[in-house]
Amino acid sequence: MVPAALLAIISGALGYAVAQQAALSPAALAYTPLSSPCPANLTLVRSAGGRPATLSHQELTYVTGRQHKVLPDAWESYLSSVEHSAGVQHISLPRYLKTILGGHGQLPTLGIATSGGGMRAAIFGAAILDTLDARNTTSGALGTGGLLQAASYLAGLSGGSFLVTSLVQANFPTIPSLIFGPDSNPGGNTFGGWLSEIGLESVSSNTTIQDDFVEVLIAEVAGKRAAGFPVTFTDVWSRALARHFTNGTTLDNFFATNVTHGAGLTWSGIANLSTFQNHGMPFPIIVTNTLSKFENNSKVIPGNDVPLTNPIYEFNVFEIGSFDPMLASFVPTSLLGSQNGTCVTNFDQVSLVTASSSNLWNEFNTSAAALAASSIGPLIAAINETFPQSGIRLDSAAIPNPFMGIAPNTFLDSNQSVITFVDGGEDGETIPIQPMLVKARRVDIVIAIDAAADTEDNFTNGSSLISTQQRAALFPGVYSFPPVPSSPDVFAAHNLTKRTTFFGCNTAPEAPLVAYFANGGPPLGQTPLTNLSTFTDTFTPPQIQAIMNQVFDIATQGIPINEVEKDPEFPVCLACAIVDRARARAGERRTGVCETCLARYCFS
Ligand SMILES: *[C@@H]1O[C@H](CO)[C@@H](O)[C@H](O)[C@H]1NC(C)=O
Ligand SMILES: *[C@@H]1O[C@H](CO)[C@@H](O)[C@H](O)[C@H]1NC(C)=O
Ligand SMILES: *[C@@H]1O[C@H](CO)[C@@H](O)[C@H](O)[C@H]1NC(C)=O
Ligand SMILES: *[C@@H]1O[C@H](CO)[C@@H](O)[C@H](O)[C@H]1NC(C)=O
Ligand SMILES: *[C@@H]1O[C@H](CO)[C@@H](O)[C@H](O)[C@H]1NC(C)=O
Ligand SMILES: *[C@@H]1O[C@H](CO)[C@@H](O)[C@H](O)[C@H]1NC(C)=O
Ligand SMILES: *[C@@H]1O[C@H](CO)[C@@H](O)[C@H](O)[C@H]1NC(C)=O
Ligand SMILES: *[C@@H]1O[C@H](CO)[C@@H](O)[C@H](O)[C@H]1NC(C)=O
Ligand SMILES: *[C@@H]1O[C@H](CO)[C@@H](O)[C@H](O)[C@H]1NC(C)=O
Ligand SMILES: *[C@@H]1O[C@H](CO)[C@@H](O)[C@H](O)[C@H]1NC(C)=O
Ligand SMILES: *[C@@H]1O[C@H](CO)[C@@H](O)[C@H](O)[C@H]1NC(C)=O
Ligand SMILES: *[C@@H]1O[C@H](CO)[C@@H](O)[C@H](O)[C@H]1NC(C)=O
Repeated sequence: MVPAALLAIISGALGYAVAQQAALSPAALAYTPLSSPCPANLTLVRSAGGRPATLSHQELTYVTGRQHKVLPDAWESYLSSVEHSAGVQHISLPRYLKTILGGHGQLPTLGIATSGGGMRAAIFGAAILDTLDARNTTSGALGTGGLLQAASYLAGLSGGSFLVTSLVQANFPTIPSLIFGPDSNPGGNTFGGWLSEIGLESVSSNTTIQDDFVEVLIAEVAGKRAAGFPVTFTDVWSRALARHFTNGTTLDNFFATNVTHGAGLTWSGIANLSTFQNHGMPFPIIVTNTLSKFENNSKVIPGNDVPLTNPIYEFNVFEIGSFDPMLASFVPTSLLGSQNGTCVTNFDQVSLVTASSSNLWNEFNTSAAALAASSIGPLIAAINETFPQSGIRLDSAAIPNPFMGIAPNTFLDSNQSVITFVDGGEDGETIPIQPMLVKARRVDIVIAIDAAADTEDNFTNGSSLISTQQRAALFPGVYSFPPVPSSPDVFAAHNLTKRTTFFGCNTAPEAPLVAYFANGGPPLGQTPLTNLSTFTDTFTPPQIQAIMNQVFDIATQGIPINEVEKDPEFPVCLACAIVDRARARAGERRTGVCETCLARYCFS
């Protein structure tokens, strides 16, 4: 609850701020977008229309550069890791596997998509990435390490966006140093770790400290409002997330008001990081859903909130927009917030991108009364009183619509001045697979990481893949997705969420193959640690380490032997799936261990 006296202070500060920006905190100043007239010759919107939809030239330059400069070595070192694992098991690898990964042919294009599900999903996804990371010596020795380095794309949404955002903006550190912070913290604008011992929303049980904290967060969006932009709950949420997932915060300065806590860091600015400049990271993408006044609610999958027919938006380092054919348009990420000939910069704040992708708060707004009574009711009321705005939803991200007038017959929000972003999983696709289905990206294989809480005990039941299948079917010829079972019961009956499953091994090669790593149950007879509520947001470091160790077993057990022992062939089987589309392109027949592996691990 925000005390009335506090509201008076904030409201006063706002009025003052309009006159004199110097009254704003360093974070509030850094969070404020900057406006200037657009250059007369600027074409803001890029049409990606056409079949297949086209990529930006900057993305093409990035991925092509990565293909030439980075991936040949990355695949070769992954191959050594797989060969080592095969050697230990006395498995002989098909010649084509070595030819393809050795770079004597067309290399596979790998995308990794990591799901929503709050901190549970962020940790689950992080531990899977760690299992695929060559820098993790255990993963390297086992034969799974190296795939992260060889991936072309890395997409996240909601809890998965906490992971992807923090990882890329911190310049791609190892997963342990990302989560736990560096061994010795130089402070300043470096990354201090997820600071998971402090909650995302609730930072203290002491109400004085909690209220002061909320006051500071609200004050940090005052500059943006004073500059004439809508501010909503998502902006305040973004300032809370910034303490955990962007540079500039440590346990020591968590409550300090004289530092920016990552305000001013922009998603487009990631292009300047050394790892990005060297093509050293997979091309990162964050996914959001949208709400529209004109959406077709008969297209909502029961239990979800956003119709499958609404556009899915992506933020990449260069552009933000949608590849869906209803819109098929992008604007430069650095110019997000621009409209009507006014060019805006500094709007694409890293924290706002991850907050938009994880904004599920609108789900509490089943009615005005329900929202008021929910955990965010007092904060919504405080924002409403501090920043009176008409016609703006406060429960979701309000973005000046850069696509006004575009595709009036197919784009729902063509005549709306504001677009509304909400959590990327609200249509039921909790894994951000859609960017991987964009045909111009030529993704051969998607590693799909699913930590959605579908069941009563917060395990995954396959619903996300079912939603992706249903949505892809709405866009025939545009998206191709391999067949997956159409009901969670079939996933359960075949244990498809309980052990890594491959989809699409025997279907048309237009669709990528999917390697599905789900949080479907504990591995190898262990006590479950990975099924906490989506709203659990405080963890001690040893607790996270224990969860990560369990996820490592989930990711590497394969189909366990006698339910307690890992399948020692699994790392080789995964490699077989990784090269399978490239094998087909090369006109090779599946042979040897790859033939038996795929027969065991593929669902058809
Ligand atoms: C737009 O005009 C500026 C100078 O005002 C020039 O530097 C730039 O090259 C022009 N861009 C295009 C696309 O013509
Ligand atoms: C964040 O900090 C890391 C060091 O922890 C640094 O390498 C990186 O460049 C910083 N990122 C930004 C966006 O400044
Ligand atoms: C709450 O925090 C305030 C400010 O640090 C402190 O003065 C007060 O004693 C604390 N209250 C309790 C109950 O610990
Ligand atoms: C912020 O304040 C703290 C405590 O007063 C001080 O130690 C620190 O140097 C200040 N940091 C900056 C960036 O001014
Ligand atoms: C990258 O850095 C350059 C030089 O410091 C700066 O001019 C540019 O604005 C930065 N680009 C982005 C997208 O932040
Ligand atoms: C909404 O979807 C239903 C079911 O497919 C369809 O019959 C209806 O025409 C759609 N309405 C609009 C406004 O597109
Ligand atoms: C841009 O123009 C539209 C339509 O005239 C208007 O609704 C909107 O408020 C304008 N946006 C800004 C930032 O002025
Ligand atoms: C916002 O404030 C206005 C005017 O004070 C009030 O009419 C409206 O109900 C408030 N809305 C919410 C969501 O609190
Ligand atoms: C709640 O949802 C309704 C639409 O159903 C919207 O008009 C309203 O602005 C939302 N309330 C807030 C506070 O965002
Ligand atoms: C699923 O796993 C259980 C053990 O957890 C096993 O008994 C059962 O045979 C498996 N079902 C299939 C179809 O593999
Ligand atoms: C699963 O999540 C629900 C709702 O968020 C929570 O009440 C429940 O305790 C969680 N179950 C477990 C096993 O943590
Ligand atoms: C490797 O990754 C797993 C999964 O996150 C983790 O449990 C393990 O501690 C890591 N090992 C090393 C050496 O970092």
